[in-house]
Amino acid sequence: MDDLRIGSIKRKQKITIIVDGKKIVAYKGETVLAALIASGYKILKTNPVSHEPRGAFCGMGICFECTMTIDGVPNTRACMTEVREGMTVETNDQK
Ligand code: FES
Repeated sequence: MDDLRIGSIKRKQKITIIVDGKKIVAYKGETVLAALIASGYKILKTNPVSHEPRGAFCGMGICFECTMTIDGVPNTRACMTEVREGMTVETNDQK
């Protein structure tokens, strides 16, 4: 998938994180949510009752729409978690 980041910004070190078993590019200092959005992820989970797709809403730790399992810890807010090399992320997408 294409990188959707703005090209003119100087970034820190390029790293790799594992999302649902797939490697994606991230940069030190980014949040998990920023790395996911830049890699084209829009659906982060589905509603367990209606099965409708859900995505991030606030991007600042308020709505809890971005919760996922990060490094084995469930219900972690992706928008409040900084990436690190080799981090594992499960988006909780129930597709
Ligand atoms: S997007 Fe709202 S808490 Fe993360």
